[in-house]
Amino acid sequence: MSTNDNDKIPGWDKSYSVGIASFDEDHKKLFAIIDALMKAKGDTNELGAVIRAYNDLVDYATCHFKSEEDALAAHGYPNLESHRNDHNKFAHQLDSYSSMLDYGVVPPLPDMVSFITSWFRDHVMIHDKEYTRFLNENGLR
Ligand SMILES: [Fe+2]
Repeated sequence: MSTNDNDKIPGWDKSYSVGIASFDEDHKKLFAIIDALMKAKGDTNELGAVIRAYNDLVDYATCHFKSEEDALAAHGYPNLESHRNDHNKFAHQLDSYSSMLDYGVVPPLPDMVSFITSWFRDHVMIHDKEYTRFLNENGLR
């Protein structure tokens, strides 16, 4: 098992709050799914568990990104395109992992998990927190 720092995702705590209750709930769920993915990855006999956690992540992230983009679009968020691009960058990388899995090829799991954890942490801490004030000022809490 890799001990790369990028593989670590802490539990959700208030420092990750984006100031919108429903998005914080989504993020907690996504952190829990990523945690399950990391635990499954550590056991090479648990490929089924890796795939289940991975599929959960794809489904939940897709749904969550749409919720965020819909809220940002509804209020005319000025940085929507760059926010959407960051979501799309993540989604495209997941698509390439999904294609491999569809063909029965297991992606390099340490790389896959490092990418997912570091993208997610940075996205929430940097890009998502950028919309807090805007959405709060538009009445979303
Ligand atoms: Fe986002």
